[in-house]
Amino acid sequence: MVKLSRLNANLLKAHYAVRGKIVIRAQELEKQGRHITYCNIGNPQALKQKPLTFVRQVLALVEYPELLDRPETASLFPADAVRRARLILEKNPTGMGAYTQSAGMPFIRQAVADFISKRDGIPADPDRILLTDGASKGVQSAMTMLTSGPDDGFMIPIPQYPLYSATIDLYGARQANYFLDEANGWQLSEEELKRSVAEAREQGVNPVAIAVINPGNPTGAVLSRENIIMVIRFARENGLAILADEVYQENIYGEGLKFHSFAKVMHELNEKDVTLFSFHSVSKGFLGECGHRGGYMEVRNMPDDVWAELIKLQSIGLCSNTTGQVVTYLMIDPPGTGDESFALYEKEKNAILGDLKEKARILGEGLNSIEGMSVAVPHGAMYAFVRFDLPHPDGTDPEKMTPSERHKYESARDSKYCLRLLEETGICVVPGSGFGQRPGTLHFRTTFLPPKEEITALVEKMRRFHSSYRAKIEQGAVKSA
Ligand SMILES: Cc1ncc(COP(=O)(O)O)c(C=O)c1O
Repeated sequence: MVKLSRLNANLLKAHYAVRGKIVIRAQELEKQGRHITYCNIGNPQALKQKPLTFVRQVLALVEYPELLDRPETASLFPADAVRRARLILEKNPTGMGAYTQSAGMPFIRQAVADFISKRDGIPADPDRILLTDGASKGVQSAMTMLTSGPDDGFMIPIPQYPLYSATIDLYGARQANYFLDEANGWQLSEEELKRSVAEAREQGVNPVAIAVINPGNPTGAVLSRENIIMVIRFARENGLAILADEVYQENIYGEGLKFHSFAKVMHELNEKDVTLFSFHSVSKGFLGECGHRGGYMEVRNMPDDVWAELIKLQSIGLCSNTTGQVVTYLMIDPPGTGDESFALYEKEKNAILGDLKEKARILGEGLNSIEGMSVAVPHGAMYAFVRFDLPHPDGTDPEKMTPSERHKYESARDSKYCLRLLEETGICVVPGSGFGQRPGTLHFRTTFLPPKEEITALVEKMRRFHSSYRAKIEQGAVKSA
């Protein structure tokens, strides 16, 4: 029998907090009949967000093409959904059950290039576009190809989405942290990037790439164009590739804020040296089609022989799944103004985005009104990274601890807090230590995906829990917190 001790040590080392211990406990409680509010992961449809009608209509037709020849189809499906399904089957005549080319269906890669050109007003090459099983697989492919030895390192934001730290561990690479500035709405500073790269080199790390998540998970921050210019310049000066995680590009709520893609800014700077990998996904935005595992990676400044290796890597897994490819296509080429589906599509899209914007505000303002909690009201994405303060139990002084003792103490504290929150209120959030946080600070990450009415109730439950938990520590009733 395979034993734990014989497993790949890199796998044992890797942590993926958003589906970790607390979530497992939440599932146990749910089995026992407790109502759990899952705020641990950006999985919109699991929290009652409805799929876009047009997407599901086209999927139904392409998965069961016999429907196209049935007379009742014309009354059940809008004409443009039928037309679109026919087009997909015509362009991909082997159907949904056949492998596609490794990089994905050529007409969808062309459509992605057209989407980027239209979104950014820049040229885009379909031969540098790869369709992937969600953005995760694209990020992992880029990281696989960039890790050439055990000292190769990736600069990642702290806090970060744990796909990055877990993949670094999995591939036996090194992690170089750059801290985002909480006091400044989680913005990114050049001094911090310089500090981080210098520290990494001192520790024998050879930084090969910098990952940037924009809009941010877990921070909800949106990068300015100036910030992006700074990152590109920094990458050039330090010989780094850029991994631009842009899965939340549609999720921007802050007044006057705008999404700037790395591709556009790079084109405007006429940057020809820095290799850019950009990622997009069907899981977020307003589609929320996480389970369909669709997305794409666009690459800039990559020679043909390197691109061929990326295709080879993809071909080892044959191709991304076909429904994911089709959902990606529908995301980047939605119904147009003349289409029968247009009005409903726009209505559903605007309702979802409007709701998210309002929920970000309700949650942010609500949590900020709790004594001992603070949060930058999210401007984007689907999360709030909430700071909370706890008193130390009698006789505990973290200032007297070594950095590793302190890290252990602090990550035990936020995990215990989140576990107690779950046990007492049924709210499932993720401890900040799963994303990284500055020493001396405690956080948790929550999504703002639950229905509006539930968010208000959730804030009230958190308020009561936080004050009673603090009181228990002060009274010595929670010993190791
Ligand atoms: C920043 C970020 N990147 C990538 C992903 C992965 O998404 P996908 O479902 O496309 O793999 C997520 C999922 O939450 C995310 O938050």
